[in-house]
Amino acid sequence: MSKRFYITTAIDYVNGLPHLGHAYEKVVADVIARIHRSLGEEVFFLTGLDEHGQKVQQAALSEGATPQAYCDRLADVWQTFVARLNLSNSDFVRTTQPRHQKVVHAILAKLHAQGDFYKSPYRGWYSPRQESFLTDKDRRPDGTFDPIYGEVQELVEENWYFRMSRHQAWLIEHIQNHPDFVQPDYRRNEVLGFLRSEPLEDLCISRPLTRLNWGIPLPFDPAFVTYVWFDALSNYYSIPVALGDADATAPLQGFYTEPHPAGPSLWPADVHLIGKDIVKFHAVYWPIMLKAAGIPLPHQILVHGWWQKDGEKMAKSVGNVVDPIAVIDAWGVDPFRYYVLRELDVGPDGNWTDAGFQGRYQAELANGLGNLVNRSLSMLQRYRNGIVPAASDALAEDITQGVASVTADLRRHRLQAALVGIWSLVSRANQYVDQTAPFKLAKDPAQAPRLDAVLYSLAETCRILAVLLWPFLPETAGRIGAQLGIQDPPDRLTAAAWGRLTPGHHIGTPSPLFPRRD
Ligand code: MSP
Repeated sequence: MSKRFYITTAIDYVNGLPHLGHAYEKVVADVIARIHRSLGEEVFFLTGLDEHGQKVQQAALSEGATPQAYCDRLADVWQTFVARLNLSNSDFVRTTQPRHQKVVHAILAKLHAQGDFYKSPYRGWYSPRQESFLTDKDRRPDGTFDPIYGEVQELVEENWYFRMSRHQAWLIEHIQNHPDFVQPDYRRNEVLGFLRSEPLEDLCISRPLTRLNWGIPLPFDPAFVTYVWFDALSNYYSIPVALGDADATAPLQGFYTEPHPAGPSLWPADVHLIGKDIVKFHAVYWPIMLKAAGIPLPHQILVHGWWQKDGEKMAKSVGNVVDPIAVIDAWGVDPFRYYVLRELDVGPDGNWTDAGFQGRYQAELANGLGNLVNRSLSMLQRYRNGIVPAASDALAEDITQGVASVTADLRRHRLQAALVGIWSLVSRANQYVDQTAPFKLAKDPAQAPRLDAVLYSLAETCRILAVLLWPFLPETAGRIGAQLGIQDPPDRLTAAAWGRLTPGHHIGTPSPLFPRRD
């Protein structure tokens, strides 16, 4: 079975409410997944939830619910969120699922059997909010810990540790030799800088049951549960194994004893899409976990930036958190997807402003794309009864060149550049309407062939735009297709070749894609 293109998002903490940042990451991953489908590849797109850990246990307790009941309730909220974003995900992982836990057990058992873990007492500082241990190096110059850690406690306890230092040299070499492994380059350089500057400390992979019971029990020591990050990172690999990816499962031979159905070939992942705050987990701990367990490494960790609102960090306490669902309720899903993808390239930080959102809606969606499609198809209805006239190559060269450059951007996952390229075609076609003035041509019977050429060129441009737009704005692309009277969804890039629209074809009924809001 040939390997599918496999892309993942970070799995969100179940106890937060979905906001702009989560939506952005999922939409970017969805666009990349759809690009590969449009290119004719088989794709597997995984997203889901991180459900274990102290915060969840505490939140459940404060509601008087069991952690599982609490997670189940919130998982519904998150799954609705995924549907509202119109994601084309292939599966939805929850770390409380037995299918995931069995694979985590197998990885832990293998690493333990190989001697990668040891038990040792710990005395030091712990941040329950970040679920991480702190050292004196984490203190600020005035001796206090940053407020992001919340209340920091002193702890004395035994734990299990993962030997890390033996992995430092090969990891540095791997990142050096595989420039695509961590992208963009400035993130890669940060990881290399970190790895070269200090010896890796061993990673604590357990939490004592006395302090936390909402986690996956360590298979070799029932007094502990698994550290939530070890559990969560494993999701990317546990699902391929659970679904029956034979190559993925092979390294766990002797440790994973579930029946193996014959499933799709997924591992190694092609892209792990994550935010900039969790690079160390993905670019340092995750590859080491995999390598130690004899599992091939993913191809790429693609790191996006963070959104702010009006130049400030979004926070519940500030009351400035952008709620994607409210935006989608008011404006539709594609305007939301368009704004975040067009406004922010994958990498740098972005800034949401309501005025910026509305400005792009009005100028680029309503007056740009919407106006082009509506006037092109309305004129075809009015002047030719909705029947596609004789073919013309008037715009063929411009559009074909544009398609080639957008395709190159799509292949390189340059989403923002691809949108800029698509909109230059929108502008070109709108300019063509203004230059050829079809409403004037329609008044002169001698100009009928010229009008045919203009109407064909515009309808054909709209059809090709729908194909290019499909990964980004699937709903809009489908609506353009339907208004053109085309049954098949515009989900194959090969269809972006000029001249496929056949003369004599009846188009559907035009209606505004993006109603103006004044
Ligand atoms: N549960 C961990 C990830 C485990 S992955 C094995 C986690 N969850 S999270 O809910 O806090 O974050 C999920 C993703 O959302 C992360 O990639 C994070 O960077 C991203 N974002 C959270 N806030 C964000 C913004 N304000 N802007 C953009 N992305 C943001 O971390």
